[in-house]
Amino acid sequence: MLFCMVIWLRPNLVVHCVLSKPSYMVSKEGRTAGVLDNYAEGQKYAEHSLRKLETHVRRLISSSIRPALENPLNFARIYLPDLLPTVDRVVYLDSDLVVTDDVARLWSVPLRGSRAIAAPEYCAANFTKYFTDEFWSDPAMSRRTFEGRRGRPCYFNTGVMVMDLAKWRAGDYRERIERWMEVQRERRIYDLGSLPPFLLVFAGDVEAVDHRWNQHGLGGDNVRGSCRSLHPGPVSLLHWSGKGKPWTRLDEGKPCPLDHLWAPYDLYVRGKRTALIDS
Ligand SMILES: *[C@@H]1O[C@H](CO)[C@@H](O)[C@H](O)[C@H]1NC(C)=O
Repeated sequence: MLFCMVIWLRPNLVVHCVLSKPSYMVSKEGRTAGVLDNYAEGQKYAEHSLRKLETHVRRLISSSIRPALENPLNFARIYLPDLLPTVDRVVYLDSDLVVTDDVARLWSVPLRGSRAIAAPEYCAANFTKYFTDEFWSDPAMSRRTFEGRRGRPCYFNTGVMVMDLAKWRAGDYRERIERWMEVQRERRIYDLGSLPPFLLVFAGDVEAVDHRWNQHGLGGDNVRGSCRSLHPGPVSLLHWSGKGKPWTRLDEGKPCPLDHLWAPYDLYVRGKRTALIDS
């Protein structure tokens, strides 16, 4: 079984296949700047087809409420089916999370029917607030978008997704997401980056995964990034989504209580520049 994960080294992004043994090194300065320390890995990345997609996606990106969300590599998940033409299933994971369980269990969730994405769904979250009045006040857009979906459109977090790349390619989902990004450039129908176009295309058609696979929001909200505690229930994955990041808060000496769980897995190991990921 070849299965790949994407690790986003701010802002470098590396496709990490579990069967391979990559070693990424970062210095403390390089970590925040997203620069790999070991030249050979960096060179491989420079030649990667992802670089070409960066140029392509850059013209589609609109401003958002958090500049970090405008990084082209934030949109790389849309291009995984193109980047990995021989792979049929992938687990996409953001770089601001720690998996505390066997990720193969997430990888093997069944995706029924034509569903191309599996992720924890949050139907109690206020779905309305992910889109602007411009979107909701246009019935042609807001009503028609979610018509014919299997379920009620609910929020899901795009930082943890099981993606069936074969169904994705068959459904032309890349084009559908890019079309929404073009609408956004004209009409400002949402405020965040890569998440809303995913909601527009997939909400209501997502295979629901147990919430344990995305204990999200540990980075606080999108504006202030205040401390948050865990949601009730078991934890297979800790996700510092939101504005506050544990590496920043730890560096500043002002960590939130849960940030200590991040510390042992930081790519920058204090006082030691060694191979940091070696699966
Ligand atoms: C959901 O969010 C919208 C837009 O921010 C707001 O107008 C509405 O009152 C909210 N609904 C609930 C139930 O909180």
